[in-house]
Amino acid sequence: MAQAEDFSQPLLPGDAPSDYERYLRTEELLALQKEPEEQSHPDELLFQTVHQSSELWLKLACFEVETATKHLREREPAAAVRLLRRASDSVKIATQLLDMLEHMSPWEYQTIRRVLGHGSGFDSPGFRGIRRVSPSLGEAFHELRGSQDLSLVDLYVHGREFEDLYQVAEGLIEWDERVSVWRFRHYKVVARVIGEDVVGTQGTPVELLGGLIKHKLYPELWQVRNDLTARAKEEDD
Ligand code: HEM
Repeated sequence: MAQAEDFSQPLLPGDAPSDYERYLRTEELLALQKEPEEQSHPDELLFQTVHQSSELWLKLACFEVETATKHLREREPAAAVRLLRRASDSVKIATQLLDMLEHMSPWEYQTIRRVLGHGSGFDSPGFRGIRRVSPSLGEAFHELRGSQDLSLVDLYVHGREFEDLYQVAEGLIEWDERVSVWRFRHYKVVARVIGEDVVGTQGTPVELLGGLIKHKLYPELWQVRNDLTARAKEEDD
């Protein structure tokens, strides 16, 4: 008779006591934050948790955007749309995480700030990833659109006839918008925690961050809205 499976015993390789801990590598993960005796302030755990989890969500977002780009190159727009939705939702989660930082007192945060060295969000691998993967996504979309001889205006005017491509265009603008919304939220958190008229740990005036909110990944997709409004007006006149 076959022996009953002993579910209490781990099957995966590793030293941790359970498969949950082995698969998720929780020992390493949970060792990545400062221990209480190393902290300059107890809010360092909150600060590190928000930053570290943001990096994971942004890593996932960029991975999905890169895969979506490959799908577009393979002429599989529906598969790309599915992943773009996921990428945008990942940035949405990273944006929500920023709320947690507003639990910190602006005065007490100054204690944490002293231990950050020249650490600055400009060196965030997750955000650098966004800057790296977004242009290729735009190129792949325009290549696919060009191969069907469609202008952006025509794609929007005849969106129902080109459903898949229309959904890709909307996936791109959603991605662009989510990144801007993250920037806006980040700017407000920074203004609330350290102030608007100061310079950051890498010497960047916070004011400059305000200007970046207007930055667009795909300006042409925002411009086409203006063109459609102008065209509708012409048709009415
Ligand atoms: C109390 C919390 C925070 C403060 C006070 C803060 C402050 C700043 C400041 C002053 C800058 C300008 C660059 C510099 O000189 O450092 C900056 C940039 C940046 N920070 Fe933060 N930050 C905070 C939280 C976060 C979090 C949670 C993330 C998540 C990854 C993040 C990511 C970034 C990025 C990506 C930039 C570059 C912005 C861009 O390219 O638009 N920051 N931050």
